[in-house]
Amino acid sequence: MIEINKIYSGHALDVLKTFENESINMCITSPPYWSLRDYKTNPVKWSDGWKGELGAEPDFNQYINHLCDIFDEVKRVLKDDGTCWVNLGDTYGGSGLGLSYGVKTKGKNSILKTTEYLPKIAHSRGKNSKSLLLIPFRFAIEMMNRGWTVRNVIIWHKTNVTPSSAKDRFTVDFEYLFFFSKKKKYYFSQQLEPFKNSTLARCKTGCGTNKGASYRGLNKENFERLQQRILNGEIKGRNVRTVWSIPSANYKGSHFATYNPKLIEIPIKAGCPENGIVLDPFIGSGTTALVAKQFNKNYIGIELNPEYIKLALERINGTT
Ligand SMILES: C[S@@+](CC[C@H](N)C(=O)[O-])C[C@H]1O[C@@H](n2cnc3c(N)ncnc32)[C@H](O)[C@@H]1O
Repeated sequence: MIEINKIYSGHALDVLKTFENESINMCITSPPYWSLRDYKTNPVKWSDGWKGELGAEPDFNQYINHLCDIFDEVKRVLKDDGTCWVNLGDTYGGSGLGLSYGVKTKGKNSILKTTEYLPKIAHSRGKNSKSLLLIPFRFAIEMMNRGWTVRNVIIWHKTNVTPSSAKDRFTVDFEYLFFFSKKKKYYFSQQLEPFKNSTLARCKTGCGTNKGASYRGLNKENFERLQQRILNGEIKGRNVRTVWSIPSANYKGSHFATYNPKLIEIPIKAGCPENGIVLDPFIGSGTTALVAKQFNKNYIGIELNPEYIKLALERINGTT
């Protein structure tokens, strides 16, 4: 029996295996990205025999397999009308090595003198060095191979991105949020955003009807009726678009990879029915739980680092 509104401590794969089939409404999460950060979690033993932290695999294909093994379990525990939303960033070949993993690349203890990171070094010096590795898309394709339907690729346009020192490419100011469904038919509460001023102005002047005659196949009369319904507020907005401009999180606590609560508001409102359950298998500082509670949904979190669980519980209980 799963307990709701609880954060489970442990490796996502192991904990998910204890949950019943088809018991959860939606999943939203941001897993560790490949070769980017060390979350100081205990090494995990994977089914291919490799032991280590998710994201620290020497090869990104192995990382994607590990990640998708976890999402296989997410699929099993999701209800058949469930959806799964995954925020994932990309990595440049050769860029992560020795930065956040705290490993030395020079001196006596240099990783060049150990075997543990050699495959990664070989990779970083190989033909993909300096290239974007397109990991989010490799992941999404593997999710498709494993039966998920990709419904949208949402661009999280970060409005306050840190300037980059690169002078031979542009500064990356977005990440991806993938929206998958378990089956072709799924629970989805349509979300609306305000009409653009130019749309409202066109409705007022009636201008655009010629062009609009082909709008959704409507004739001039029906198109004008539609414009009237927009103007008198009967139609409250337009279907939400797929580029979302939201700053990075400004969380001041000791977790350095939180997402902005705003990023997950729309997915949670769209994907979780009243009193439904939102799952986050990598809950970190508890952002998913906070937003789920805010919109009267239940949550279930999983986290491997006990320090982050403490942090999340303090946030959820309002003590920080
Ligand atoms: C990108 S962070 C998630 C941050 C979260 N969205 C937030 O707003 O705080 C990824 C989290 O996954 C946790 N983690 C890493 N490997 C894990 C595993 N095998 N099982 C469960 N959690 C894991 C890390 O400790 C980290 O807190």
